Amino acid sequence: MAEPKAAMDINIPNAARVYDYSLGGSHNFEADRQAAEYMFTLVPSTRKWVRLLRMFLHDAAQELSDQGFDMFLDLASGLPTVEHIHSTVPNAKVIYVDNDPVVVNYGKEILGDNPHVRFLEEDIRNIDAVLSSPVIQEVFGNHRRVAIGLNGVTVFLSDEEIQRIMRATYDWAASGSKMFVTWETQAEGAMTPQWGQFLGMFDQMGSPMHLIPEAKARELVKPWHVDERDFRPITEWLGLKDYITEQDREGVGLEFYGVYLTKP
Ligand SMILES: C[S@@+](CC[C@H](N)C(=O)[O-])C[C@H]1O[C@@H](n2cnc3c(N)ncnc32)[C@H](O)[C@@H]1O
Repeated sequence: MAEPKAAMDINIPNAARVYDYSLGGSHNFEADRQAAEYMFTLVPSTRKWVRLLRMFLHDAAQELSDQGFDMFLDLASGLPTVEHIHSTVPNAKVIYVDNDPVVVNYGKEILGDNPHVRFLEEDIRNIDAVLSSPVIQEVFGNHRRVAIGLNGVTVFLSDEEIQRIMRATYDWAASGSKMFVTWETQAEGAMTPQWGQFLGMFDQMGSPMHLIPEAKARELVKPWHVDERDFRPITEWLGLKDYITEQDREGVGLEFYGVYLTKP
């Protein structure tokens, strides 16, 4: 692929481009591919899990669009490639948010002059800054009945940070709004040497991961209401029950859940 115009060091792996490579995307460079391939040697199921995350995101955008949502606020978006929201529902207004300047600059290049989509550089832990950004008013006007995405990122947030995001988005959103969220979980206390090394790589990149049990996730989503379909493994949402094998759980009981939340 052509070198991007935005300033970035293509010789240092970047988590979002590593993720793009894992998804089968083309917005990545040799250093990203090498880092990803090393991760696959430690946790061979990585590719499958990240594909599930993006498939859930794609399905959720489509489902909520079918329900009439035409405004999406997507928190921790990553690169807008591989069936992300604006390409799944091209007529919707979309605000992507990410705190990684490489992602935001490169994301803006990928989006070009698409009038429906904006990319906001902000840390979602400063959720009040996100929700009070002028970009919200510019894109959504006074509409606050929106669909909010929080996908592939709860694993990088503390319990308190998740609770704050849930409370603030709930208070900000209008009645009838929905949230779609993914949760990476593992059996409590389970560990293997490979899994330990994999987690250590994220520690070194400055993005430690905390996988939490499902029961805890149920507590953290409040005051949002879990919709009647409840928490479900993403494979169930997608009708792919046999996609994940016991081996793919990597000896630590990996399971990724998706859930839709509502504000009555
Ligand atoms: C695993 S990717 C998920 C991408 C996309 N949401 C998906 O589900 O396919 C995680 C993204 O979250 C971003 N991220 C992590 N912590 C963040 C934070 N505190 N604020 C904003 N973005 C964050 C990272 O920069 C990265 O692009």
